[in-house]
Order: sequence, then structure tokens, then C-alpha cells
Amino acid sequence: MTGPGQGHGPAQAPATEAAAPAATQIDLSGIERLFHLGDSTVHALAGVSLRVQPGEYISVMGPSGSGKSTLLNVLGLLDRPDAGHYLLEGRDVTTLSPDEQARVRSRRIGFVFQSFHLVPRLTTAENIALPMVLAGLPARERQERVQRALQGFGLADRARHRPDELSGGQRQRVAIARATVMQPALLLADEPTGNLDRATGEEVIRLLEELNAGGVTLVMVTHDAALGARARRRILMEDGAIRGDETHAGAASASPAGAGGGDARA
Ligand SMILES: Nc1ncnc2c1ncn2[C@@H]1O[C@H](COP(=O)(O)OP(=O)(O)OP(=O)(O)O)[C@@H](O)[C@H]1O
Ligand SMILES: [Mg+2]
Repeated sequence: MTGPGQGHGPAQAPATEAAAPAATQIDLSGIERLFHLGDSTVHALAGVSLRVQPGEYISVMGPSGSGKSTLLNVLGLLDRPDAGHYLLEGRDVTTLSPDEQARVRSRRIGFVFQSFHLVPRLTTAENIALPMVLAGLPARERQERVQRALQGFGLADRARHRPDELSGGQRQRVAIARATVMQPALLLADEPTGNLDRATGEEVIRLLEELNAGGVTLVMVTHDAALGARARRRILMEDGAIRGDETHAGAASASPAGAGGGDARA
């Protein structure tokens, strides 16, 4: 028998190195998501198409029930569309097996929720380490990254606290640390300030914006018009469809192609 398997390894795939930065990061086309409740069907996403470039900062706004969370869940591979295609970094992720999806999610995507979703039994350090445990990173690497995250997110003196011993803002910082400890390319935030007072919410937004300035793509759902207006690109959803998609020069963004530079002048 000829062919592979003689010790030379599989055929090389030349163009699939981690994330070619110039390529479109997210390409959704014709995404549909239906929920059936008894006799009625809710069209949570009705033909959503969207392209996102690496490093963009996007806010998603719209009335309650318009499909914002459903869209984020699809983007985060937490939910599967009923129709349409989702290319993430050029790869069709709608057809992947659940295991393969979990692997992509673990390596490429971070998710931040309104209600933090920390594991109550685990300490701050353990919560942050969790994605690395699941991904099988070596203990030494995990410890180093946890230490760096604790420092970076101002949590060093809360490392052994459990979530119920933390303030809301601290909990969300732990959640953001956990969402970014695997160094994702895409950070999805569903109303990350929804359970926080305004000042604490501002801090959390600044943290997310710093991460975006570092290059991670940020897609954030918010009900707060002032927060939504900070994003360079603003998407408006209604009835499961994108009704508005505006890019505003001058708003915060990592400016992926180097247009405008990354530093804010103060
Ligand atoms: N698991 C589900 N089962 C049934 N219907 C659902 C489910 N998830 C969402 N829906 C329905 O899909 C529609 C879109 O919901 P989604 O949660 O995406 O809205 P949203 O824009 O995030 O709203 P909100 O601003 O209130 O969070 C709603 O009508 C909702 O009731
Ligand atoms: Mg929602």
C-alpha cells in the first residue's frame, strides 16, 4: 500500500497557519435560527449575513427579543443555526462535530455574560484556570498565565476568593480574565455591564476596549446607547434581522489595518 502513513507525516496544509490576520474573521451568510414553542415558531434569526474583520469593535443593539443573544450564541458556537453558513477564519464551523466546535471555541473565542457565569465552588484563580485545564495546557503554563491575569486584571489580592465573596465588578473581571486567558481572537460580550452600576460598568467596558486595542475582535451586546455608541461599528437588530450597520470614524477601535493608529490622545 502506498500513500501516507510511512513516517513522513500527513500532507502539509500550507495556508492554514493560525489566523492569517488580513483575512475576514467572521463571515455569516443567510443565518436562520428558529425556536419552536408549542404550536408557535419564533424566528430568532431571519437571514442574518455579516462580515467582520479581525480587530473590529462592534456593538449590537436592538429591542428585547430582537435576536441579539441568539446571534452572539451562534457566533460563539454555543448554538447552531438552522440554516446558513458561518465561516470563522475561513473555515465552515457550522458543519463541525460538537467536539471540533468545542475545540475551536476553546482556542479562538472568549465569552462574557451579563451574569458572569463563574463556577461558584471555584476560587478566582481556579475559575481563570478552568479553560486552560479543559484545553489541556500544562500546569506550569496555567500557573504562569493565571498569575499574569491576576495581576493584569487587578485581582491579585482576590485569588483565593470565591465568586460570592467578590463584588460585581470583580466577578466580571474574573469572567473577562477567564474569557481571555486562552488568548482568543474573538471576544463576545452579552450585556457585560447589565448587572453593574454605571461606574463599575464603565471600568469593565474600558477593560474590554483595552483588550480590543490589543487586537482581539470585540462584539458586544448592550442596551445602553451611550456604551453602544463607543464602538466604531454599530449594528442594530430588529425581528431577528440586521436593520442597521454603521461604521463611525473616530470611535474606539483597534484599527486592524493600522488606519489611524491605536493610541488615544489625552
Ligand atoms: N431557547 C429558546 N427557546 C425558545 N425561544 C427562544 C430561545 N432563545 C431565544 N428565544 C426567542 O428568540 C427571540 C430572540 O431572543 P434573544 O434572546 O436572542 O433576544 P435578545 O435580543 O437577546 O433580547 P434581550 O435584549 O431581552 O436579551 C425571542 O423571541 C426569544 O423569546
Ligand atoms: Mg439577550
